[in-house]
Amino acid sequence: MNTSKVTIQDIQQAKMDGRKLTMMTAYDYPFGMIADAAGVDIVLVGDSLGMVVMGLEGTVEVTMAQMIHHIKAVVRGCKKALIVGDMPFMSYNTSIREAIVNAGRLMKEGGCDVVKLEGGVDFAATVQAIVKAGIPVQGHIGLTPQTASALGGFKMQGRDVTAAKQIIDDAKALEAAGAFSLVVEAVPAPLGELIAQSVTIPVIGIGAGNKVDGQVLVTHDMIGLFDKFVPKFVKRYANIKPAIVDALTTFKDEVSNGTFPGPEHSFSMPDEALENLKKQLK
Ligand code: KIV
Repeated sequence: MNTSKVTIQDIQQAKMDGRKLTMMTAYDYPFGMIADAAGVDIVLVGDSLGMVVMGLEGTVEVTMAQMIHHIKAVVRGCKKALIVGDMPFMSYNTSIREAIVNAGRLMKEGGCDVVKLEGGVDFAATVQAIVKAGIPVQGHIGLTPQTASALGGFKMQGRDVTAAKQIIDDAKALEAAGAFSLVVEAVPAPLGELIAQSVTIPVIGIGAGNKVDGQVLVTHDMIGLFDKFVPKFVKRYANIKPAIVDALTTFKDEVSNGTFPGPEHSFSMPDEALENLKKQLK
């Protein structure tokens, strides 16, 4: 297995070579290690943690402190994949200065390699300033979950010609601003293909069809750990929740009926020491 750290240059070379990129989310140390074991190129510490880890309705409430906490844990486990730290809602929206400061915090305090933020043309100046400050940026366009309510909910984007053209303009503006790659979420597959053809940077799709340069999914969705709702674009590669419930039910039963812990999971004590102890307790 190749154990060297994935770089931005590797990610960009993949598009030139026609090699499809893989990106998954992780929010803690074990999944950071699992990402490396699976050999994915990119690990996203996504603000989707608001929903799949914290049980919130969306991503809006996620804070900088929570992002830094989770990024740190992933960084401890993941040594190979490129680690993306998601900028939470309102950490880059109020001013360019604040955006640079917060992007810097995710890198300096969290330890991620790059940051991701949501928005197109309107955020090109912000992306440009963060990149100029020395922090690589991945853009996120199409369905942008932090502003889903303004977009009419968690719905497919780019339905008509004007909306589709706007997303292509967003992609071009972010490329011109210096973004090293883009996530494109919930757009028609032919539009995903057109976006990937419109820019030279890698376009990683989530619900954007298979003619983009790579794919990302929320890990808890694709392994069946989060089942409150399953978007159309999610493929279930495993269903681990029932296996975990089975294991924990067996643990509960064995504790209740006294079969756990058995001798193989218990520490022994020399007979003589035990007898002595008992005498002293009399
Ligand atoms: O936060 C996240 O997990 C994301 C993915 C949906 C790309 O932004």
